[in-house]
Amino acid sequence: MAKNLQDTTALHNGIKMPWFGIGVFKVEEGSELVAAVKSAIKHGYRSIDTAAIYGNETSVGQAIHEGIQEANISREDLFVTSKVWNADLGYEATLAAFETSLNKLGLEYLDLYLIHWPVKGKYKEAWRALEKLYKDGRVKAIGVSNFQIHHLEDLMGEAEIKPMINQVEFHPYLTQKELITFCRTHDIQMEAWSPLMQGQLLDNPVLQEIADKHGKTVAQVILRWDLQHGVVTIPKSTKEHRIVENASVFDFELTQEEMDRIDALNQNHRVGPDPDNFDF
Ligand SMILES: NC(=O)c1ccc[n+]([C@@H]2O[C@H](COP(=O)([O-])OP(=O)(O)OC[C@H]3O[C@@H](n4cnc5c(N)ncnc54)[C@H](OP(=O)(O)O)[C@@H]3O)[C@@H](O)[C@H]2O)c1
Repeated sequence: MAKNLQDTTALHNGIKMPWFGIGVFKVEEGSELVAAVKSAIKHGYRSIDTAAIYGNETSVGQAIHEGIQEANISREDLFVTSKVWNADLGYEATLAAFETSLNKLGLEYLDLYLIHWPVKGKYKEAWRALEKLYKDGRVKAIGVSNFQIHHLEDLMGEAEIKPMINQVEFHPYLTQKELITFCRTHDIQMEAWSPLMQGQLLDNPVLQEIADKHGKTVAQVILRWDLQHGVVTIPKSTKEHRIVENASVFDFELTQEEMDRIDALNQNHRVGPDPDNFDF
């Protein structure tokens, strides 16, 4: 169980990934993004999640370079994730997309590179490219995103290297019980996207009651619930006070009863697309 913001989980290849990070979906290139990521680094975050399709890798890279200098840490202290977009799934196309992301970020390696969506008929070729990037030392860990159990089984049937991560939509209205169990069994670390359900869960009365009991906010309760489930979490905020708030989850513990109450909120409700039925 994570004890502080910089605590890590060991992926199945031994690489250490922080349990907690910041996501930057829907934040455009520019000063707001640079300030947010630098603020996160200043406040002790060590993991940053971006993607080619977010169109903000250049600003993320700028923030990383400025942020590590200001915090007096080194590149190796950070864990940087990006993802290959659907249009670039294919062996050569994925290799090229990786170089583009790396160039935009201004980095020499990535810590984690993910296949963003399980596009039918395309993700296996892309995975071969990720395996090559991993073997060549260009990326410390490789994984997938939005993969259901059947996608993982299909991929692992042919893959040489098993994914280290599966990053999926996960929050109290979408608890992904079977997927968590499957990933745990196969030593694939689960990672939550939209952990706060993009801000739409914050007035839930059950979560509010639990939050009040601990003197915490609903966001903090949800993020703590992620960690107690052994799920890596990457809430997004561009507001410094929320960046700090979200990471202040290491000084309280949810009881088993509270965990069960939050689990019982599940409605299999998605804010994002269904990985079995998307057309982009
Ligand atoms: N792999 C994928 O397909 C995929 C898909 C979606 C997202 N992701 C990743 O997951 C990250 C997180 O998901 P997300 O950005 O979709 O949603 P999220 O983290 O669940 O929620 C972000 C929203 O909640 C607000 N917020 C954050 N902290 C808050 C707090 N303490 N109190 C009240 N409101 C708060 C933010 O607003 P402010 O910024 O104004 O604070 C923002 O509107 C993304 O940024 C991205 O890196 C991956």
